[in-house]
Amino acid sequence: MEAIRAVTAPLESGPAPSSALIRAHGLSKTYATGSGQVPALAGIDFEIYDGEFVSVVGQSGCGKSTLLKLLAGLLPFTAGSVELNGKPLRGPTREAAVVFQSPVLLPWRTVLDNVMLPIEFRKLPKAMYRQSAVNLLAMVGLSEFVQRYPFELSGGMLQRVAIARALVQDPRLLLMDEPFGALDAMTRDQMNLELLRIWSHSRKTVIFITHSIAEAVFLSDRVIAMTPRPGTIADIITIELPRPRDLSVINTDRFGRYAARLRSLLDAGGGLL
Ligand SMILES: Nc1ncnc2c1ncn2[C@@H]1O[C@H](COP(=O)(O)OP(=O)(O)OP(=O)(O)O)[C@@H](O)[C@H]1O
Ligand SMILES: [Mg+2]
Repeated sequence: MEAIRAVTAPLESGPAPSSALIRAHGLSKTYATGSGQVPALAGIDFEIYDGEFVSVVGQSGCGKSTLLKLLAGLLPFTAGSVELNGKPLRGPTREAAVVFQSPVLLPWRTVLDNVMLPIEFRKLPKAMYRQSAVNLLAMVGLSEFVQRYPFELSGGMLQRVAIARALVQDPRLLLMDEPFGALDAMTRDQMNLELLRIWSHSRKTVIFITHSIAEAVFLSDRVIAMTPRPGTIADIITIELPRPRDLSVINTDRFGRYAARLRSLLDAGGGLL
């Protein structure tokens, strides 16, 4: 961990939030199913600023993944509006990329060719993006694995490939849905440190969904706490812990107070986390 800390510390700096990159207003989603209407999200309002790292916590089923899919333009919303970079969001866009819980790589493609997928999908000039794909793989610490296949990589490495793939089209916004949820605790800690390093390098705006209050506090500038279904915003907590952060911050009183505040918000909503 010391080695990672040493690498992380000088590179990470605080965000410089400026203008709102995302504006959600009255955002609601009701799923129509065979057995009736399922209200998943109701009246969500927030602004997220350029360069911010924002986490979303809430109990299972409160609509976190739904929110992420709406922001990615992958799912139509029922009511309200979302603006991304000043323009109404109407569908998937190059400006927003998603990292899911499972990295979904194609097993017959090399690591590099997996990272190049969005470029091929969007019919962008491959030759132009190949070097940036190689550079991104270096940034996530996988220079030696560019020509390997997914089965040769560990879970944490596969998730790093997925992060490189999300960044290859140079999105403004990185949407992450419990990306480290399937990893063991130690790998997860390391991936969180790695993510802060990548974030400070890439200067992307990140929206990060997690079940873990500690993970949310450790990573974020602000944490959005949601109520149980239909999900609404219980509160948005600003985390004023200095950056760069290392894992020792978890043992501080301030960290404990933020975590306790979030836990009481989620408990008040009847959530069990
Ligand atoms: N495609 C769908 N059709 C119908 N209902 C859905 C669909 N997707 C999600 N839901 C419902 O919407 C609600 C919110 O689901 P969502 O997956 O957004 O929750 P979540 O907060 O991400 O949960 P988890 O923490 O378990 O991942 C749940 O009640 C779920 O059953
Ligand atoms: Mg989910």
